[in-house]
Amino acid sequence: MNVHSADALTVEEALATQEAAQEKFDSEAATQVAMQDTLLTPRFYTTDFDELDAVDVTPVREDWDKLIAQMQSDPNRGHFKKNENWDHVDWDGMEPQLKKEFLDFLISSCTAEFSGCVLYKEMKRRGSNADITQLFQLMARDEARHAGFINDALREAGVAVNLGFLTQKKKYTYFRPKFIYYATYLSEKIGYARYITIFRHLEAHPEHRFHPIFKWFEEWCNDEFSHGEAFALLMKTDPKLTSGINVLWIKFFLTAVYSTMYVRDHQRPAFHKALGVDPDWYAHEVFTKTSKLSEQIFPITLDIDHPRWQRGLVRLQKANADLARAKTETGIGAALTRLTSQARAAAAFVSLFTIPAKTHRVPATTRLEPAY
Ligand SMILES: [Fe+2]
Ligand SMILES: [Fe+2]
Repeated sequence: MNVHSADALTVEEALATQEAAQEKFDSEAATQVAMQDTLLTPRFYTTDFDELDAVDVTPVREDWDKLIAQMQSDPNRGHFKKNENWDHVDWDGMEPQLKKEFLDFLISSCTAEFSGCVLYKEMKRRGSNADITQLFQLMARDEARHAGFINDALREAGVAVNLGFLTQKKKYTYFRPKFIYYATYLSEKIGYARYITIFRHLEAHPEHRFHPIFKWFEEWCNDEFSHGEAFALLMKTDPKLTSGINVLWIKFFLTAVYSTMYVRDHQRPAFHKALGVDPDWYAHEVFTKTSKLSEQIFPITLDIDHPRWQRGLVRLQKANADLARAKTETGIGAALTRLTSQARAAAAFVSLFTIPAKTHRVPATTRLEPAY
């Protein structure tokens, strides 16, 4: 009998159920969107798995065992599937621009979830360190469920991302393990902050909940929270990772992750209008939460209230919008616009990156619980 990915106990089982669903259903357009590799679209990563496998978690053993036990207890098993709370979605009646942006949101979220799944699954497969492989197996299980659930929602609209095809054909970007830590830690924590902010907003304004998937975001973000905790503990095993020159790398990743989110969200005005969310407010809210959380392990946070911050984000977003427009046009004028908007985007990023960061003393105890 076929189980649903939500009930699957392992990543392999979860992916098999998605594969079975895919066989009956394919949507090339959605998969093509997921295949895109630009600065703004979710990527797939690969790393030095041997180096990761050699991590010794002894210095954080107590917290580690507690976290693993919590993940093993699997509080969200069975959660990620449609039930009686799943309202009917009128895809055909949806305003076309909203439909386009919302589909784009779902496809990009599905790709991002699956990107985590692929990386974690590969680490589990290649490793021999029992602590590490156990953690990565548990995280891959969660991400497979998340990606599977989004695909369930997409199928109702007549599209779906072919996850098997992506695994084989999407380009993999190599990152050294320490960059994987910074990037993945941040994407898990910012993912938590994004999901919980939308969830709380819609709790207060249910009239804006135009799709049932948002009802699932609370438990969802708790998974991402735990994943972030795991990366915080991994980084804690080696104090060098969060000191010295690496603090500059941390600043780089914070700036890149925050500004990417800002630019990407501003590409979806109709989506945010339907949610009743001002994307500038939302960005500031998510950055504030993520910064507060990341104080657990990073010795700096970005000064998001600095006068240059919002200005830099707007400049970056405008340069990106001009670049996107010029990419659809031909001729010497468009070529020139492409060049100048790339230069403007780079200058805006440098302006953001050079804002002095705020420093603080990192707490002795790393572990946090979801509090928003
Ligand atoms: Fe996830
Ligand atoms: Fe995650």
